[in-house]
Amino acid sequence: MKQDLLTFANWTPEQMQELLSLAVQIKQAPQAYSQALAGKSIVALFEKPSLRTRVSFDIGINRLGGHMVYLDSQSNKLAGREDSVDVAANLACWADAIVARVFSHSTLETFAEAAKVPVINALCDKYHPCQGLADYLTLFEKFGSCEGLTMAYVGDGNNVTHSLLIVGALLGCHQVVVTPEGHEASPEMVAQAKAIAAKTGVKIVESNDVAAAKGANVIYTDTWLSMGDDTPLETIKDKFMPYQVNEALMELTGATHVLHCQPAHRDLEITGSLMDSDASLLMQQAENRMHGQNAILTHLLGA
Ligand code: CP
Ligand code: NVA
Repeated sequence: MKQDLLTFANWTPEQMQELLSLAVQIKQAPQAYSQALAGKSIVALFEKPSLRTRVSFDIGINRLGGHMVYLDSQSNKLAGREDSVDVAANLACWADAIVARVFSHSTLETFAEAAKVPVINALCDKYHPCQGLADYLTLFEKFGSCEGLTMAYVGDGNNVTHSLLIVGALLGCHQVVVTPEGHEASPEMVAQAKAIAAKTGVKIVESNDVAAAKGANVIYTDTWLSMGDDTPLETIKDKFMPYQVNEALMELTGATHVLHCQPAHRDLEITGSLMDSDASLLMQQAENRMHGQNAILTHLLGA
């Protein structure tokens, strides 16, 4: 039976821990995995722009001995030209897996049902699982374990927040989610994370007050406006500015490190000076996108 990766919400803590260990192993001994995808072709289809995800999948697949075909939003006008169910079934005739960045999670569900090969979520409206794995790999490297740490996410409750909550709950990392009123994480995804957290002993706190982040080990933030959200920045800027991740917030909370999935907007959700400081884990996260994804690909497809 083929396995998809649309979200980690249906994974066990043991499976998540094993995948994290595999990522560590692949990063440490890449030569041992240089033929893991030998002879395999993977289609990566993007309805939205990407720098990190596109390039890290392409180069990562290459390092595992496989081959990637990139389809951009112009060459895969899904809704316009044919139904997504037919796109997926056709791609599966040639490809060994489909990586997809889509607007709606339901497109991924359609793909997963129609394609006889694994489908990997490269970001949708609800989740960004590949990002979540890379971020906890980064924390694992920095702190030696994710268990018992506290991550405070400060900013807009979005797809990245949801995957951080879910993967964190699986790996034993406590979570504080601080958002402006009206921009909270989705109750559906928070409930998914809380169901896991109840089993792993993880604490999840939600607040509209940045003081709730006091005592966190790390602060995480993301763009205030996700791709596809055409709300003018000027209409939300004043509401979000008190949630900017800056040196004062680091001091207030006592957090030692800052994370951001990028693309980042300097001096909006995070100050440029903090991004460039020793507290920043941003480039380590970016590098770990590739190692995490290579673990996912090896797990789903590896010989
Ligand atoms: N973090 C991330 O997914 O970056 P891209 O949008 O550039 O792929
Ligand atoms: N929340 C952001 C993440 C980008 C990697 C977005 O969806 O645009």
